[in-house]
Amino acid sequence: MATPTPTLATPILATRSLGLDIGGARIVADVSLEVRDGELVGIIGPNGAGKTTLFNLLSGLMRPTAGTVEIDGRDVTADAPFARTRAGLGRTFQTSSVFPLLPVRENVRLAAESALGGTLKLWRRAARFRPALDRADWALERVGLAERAFWPAGLLAHGDKRKLELAMVLAGESRVILLDEPMAGISHEDVDGLVELIRSVHQEEGKTVLLVEHRMEVVLGLAQRIAVMHHGALLAFDEPAAVMANETVQTAYLGEPL
Ligand SMILES: Nc1ncnc2c1ncn2[C@@H]1O[C@H](COP(=O)(O)OP(=O)(O)OP(=O)(O)O)[C@@H](O)[C@H]1O
Ligand SMILES: [Mg+2]
Repeated sequence: MATPTPTLATPILATRSLGLDIGGARIVADVSLEVRDGELVGIIGPNGAGKTTLFNLLSGLMRPTAGTVEIDGRDVTADAPFARTRAGLGRTFQTSSVFPLLPVRENVRLAAESALGGTLKLWRRAARFRPALDRADWALERVGLAERAFWPAGLLAHGDKRKLELAMVLAGESRVILLDEPMAGISHEDVDGLVELIRSVHQEEGKTVLLVEHRMEVVLGLAQRIAVMHHGALLAFDEPAAVMANETVQTAYLGEPL
């Protein structure tokens, strides 16, 4: 009897020849990458390289003009953002995306609720309210914001706002989370705490994480593989040491190989 050929595990997230042209400008060009379940991938590249746009294409905020996006082997290219959230993809945004007048806990509950597939209507049945609230409390505890639960979110310090955004994505129980510069604007002292938080979310919750980050020491400290973007294209996607030794990458960053 023929033994089945062993196949590699289906990537949790994949793009195939993904492209985006806007008005004749190539914003994302022929990006094919496969992310393994449970992996932490760093995404680096100069300003304007297309990192945020890639996240927009992955999360469904923007539609590609070429190629496909797959979540766990399923083509989601035509799916709206909420459908991708329910398929297991969560994201935070590069700019703060919290409702400033709502309490911290309510912001997280709304995020959990929408990921659960519940309605956002305030008159929904209490029975459906609970799980989202439980998850919100768990997530706030997880990021260390439990004692700020009843503060209006707008009053949080900047570093705490980034933690809140992380709690919002954690409460959704996404398998894959996209973090777009979660350390942006964070004071030097707070960076280490956030790095540890991302590390533990990845290791203890077993999340797959895609992290766009400019601070190389952060990316090198966290990522198992690093994707390098340049002019919308994927220049390299490999383990950190291989990426750092890659001449094309060095040329793109420094103008010449080291
Ligand atoms: N909706 C849009 N219409 C036209 N051009 C766009 C649009 N969105 C992004 N761009 C352009 O696409 C390019 C990539 O932008 P993107 O924000 O993805 O870069 P990035 O790598 O995230 O940069 P940064 O590190 O500064 O955040 C930039 O040249 C940007 O001006
Ligand atoms: Mg960006």
